[in-house]
Parts: sequence; C-alpha cells; structure tokens
Amino acid sequence: MKDINILAIETSCDETAAAVVRNGRQILSNVIYSQISIHTEYGGVVPEIASRKHLEKIDGVIRKAMDDAGMAFQDLDAVAVTRGPGLVGALLVGVAEAKALAFALEKPLLGIHHIEGHVAANYLEHADLEPPFACLTVSGGHTHLSIVKDYGEFEIVGRSRDDAAGEAFDKVARAVGLGYPGGPKIDAAAREGKPDAIHFPRGEVDGHPLDFTFSGLKSAVLNYINKSRMTGEEINVPDLCASFQESVAESLVSRAISLCRDRGFRRLAMAGGVAANTHIRQRMMEACGKEGIDFFCPRPLLCTDNAAMIGSAAYYSFIRGQRDGLSLNASPGLMLGSRDIDASS
Ligand code: KG4
Ligand code: ZN
Repeated sequence: MKDINILAIETSCDETAAAVVRNGRQILSNVIYSQISIHTEYGGVVPEIASRKHLEKIDGVIRKAMDDAGMAFQDLDAVAVTRGPGLVGALLVGVAEAKALAFALEKPLLGIHHIEGHVAANYLEHADLEPPFACLTVSGGHTHLSIVKDYGEFEIVGRSRDDAAGEAFDKVARAVGLGYPGGPKIDAAAREGKPDAIHFPRGEVDGHPLDFTFSGLKSAVLNYINKSRMTGEEINVPDLCASFQESVAESLVSRAISLCRDRGFRRLAMAGGVAANTHIRQRMMEACGKEGIDFFCPRPLLCTDNAAMIGSAAYYSFIRGQRDGLSLNASPGLMLGSRDIDASS
C-alpha cells in the first residue's frame, strides 16, 4: 500500500507546532515552538499574544517540519489542522494556514479534534496499540475517562464536573508562588516532597463514581496556604506539591482502574499534558501492573501539545474518507465524540 504522508498543524493554545507523520504511526518531523516563556511573565496564556506569536512563527515552523522530514510540499498526501477546541484566535491562525496550503497545493484538507489528537499520541508511541481500549485524557481543559471504540470513536464514561486536572495544577502552582506553567513546576517541586505529608481530600461526585471533581481539593490547598500564612507557619512547598499530586493521582488511578475492572478492559492508555506528570505515570503504571492491565502512555513530549499527534489522528480520518472544504472554521468549544457539535455555538 502507498505511504500516506500528512503535514499537521497545531496552534490551539501556546505552542506553534507542525509535523509530518507517515501512515499515522511514524514521526518524520515534529517541530514545536513553545511560547511558554512569553506567557510566564503574565502568569498564564494571554490569548491575543498567543495569536500574534502563532502568526509570526507558523511559516518558519512549517518550513522546518518539511525540511526535517526531507520532503517537498508536493510529496504530501494531505494537510491536517487542529480545528478545536482551544483559543479561537490561536486556532484561526492554524486553520487559515492549513486552508491556504491545501488550496495552493491542491491537497485534501482535514480539520482534527485536539483531544482526538492527544489520544492518538499513543499510536505514535506504541506500534501495537489498536482500539478498543480504555483511555484517560487529562489536559489543561479536559479530564475525560473514555472507551476508544475505534479510531476517532469515543464513548465518554466520566468527566470532570469542574476544573480540569491541568487547571487544578496551574491554580495550585499560582497560589503557592510557583508561577506558570503549573504542572511541570509542581512535578519538579514534588520530587523533594512526601506524598503523605498533608492529607488533602479526594473529590467524589455523588452517584457518578467515574466523574471527577477537583474544586474541593483546590479549595483545601488554598485554605491550607491561607491558614499557614495567618499563623506564620512556613509552608513546605515540596510536601504540599507532593500531597496535592497524590490526591490528583489517586482520583485518576482509582477511576481508570474501576473502568477497566467494570468493563473488562485489559488495556489502558493515558494522554494529555497532565499525563507527562512523573508521579501520575508512576502510580498508574504500578496500579495497572497489580491488575494485570497493559498501560500505555506517550513520552512526555508527545503528551503536551504537539502536531505529530494531530498527524496521527488525521491519518485515521483520512483513510475513513474525511475531507473538509475551504469553509472549515475554528471551533473553540468543540466537544469530543460529537464531531460536529460545537459547545460554544
Ligand atoms: O495537553 P496540554 O499541553 O494542553 C491542553 O490541551 O490543555 O495540557 C496542558 C496542561 C497544563 O495545565 C499543564 O500545567 C499540564 O498540562 N502539565 C502538567 C505537566 N506538564 C504539563 N501537569 C502535571 N505535570 C506535568 N509534568
Ligand atoms: Zn492539548
């Protein structure tokens, strides 16, 4: 069968990324320009700045992705782009770029769901992984427990009722003075701390054992910080980070394992930025080991935002016949599992 080479573009948040992926599994190039250092100054992503930076960087990032892959534009079989969810102005840069390229090159255009991309990062890492499997997707905007029934086909069985896991990391990091981006900073600080130093609550949603809630945990951490400041007690930041992380890890691990037990899955995958977390990866791996479940997780660079994951998801959409027209638009509130439903519209 002929190889399918897809150029993928990802600009949904603060990474300007382009990649060339072959047959959905092989990364030929993966270029990421991270804007993190720019947004750090403001304590979080500034949407307007993100859009402007994407605009400035996108051409160079795409050119490098093509050069690294050793490929000419005419060798491509399709151009894929993240169409949502994400920041609308940021998404628009990638979508406009992909449309221009597809039009000029007369190649098929595919708009891809960002979260579908995160899940597909597992296909890049694990050549033998094929649906169906259970999957936990934990990013800055999503916390989903799902069953991947087929490529691009999801049944969501649990979700966060309030903050996403990544959002909880970012808010706690800010409160404790570690700044943005919270996840990697808490991850690093926690390495020196004890996970059982402080007992923070594990959020439960009444009657919905597979749903998540992190707002109670976040409040408990904020209360702990305020109380310590009022009484003049010094906060042990590594212990606080390790204990917070342990609470998140336990919530994630217990639900993922419950799903596998209840529905008889022997394979569990994890995806999204929070899946880069050292402690959560470790806890998930141990729990799966005990249960005899095969655990899959991409390397950290493929957990956080990148375009290779979009190229992988796009391949499976391509072979199923998906083709988008030049009317393709950014869908900032796109929901998973409902290809054409945009929660914001
Ligand atoms: O998937 P992602 O890169 O972008 C979204 O689609 O949201 O996820 C970003 C989130 C942020 O909240 C960030 O703090 C978190 O992932 N994150 C981490 C780690 N690296 C990134 N959280 C915990 N530990 C990490 N090592
Ligand atoms: Zn993401």
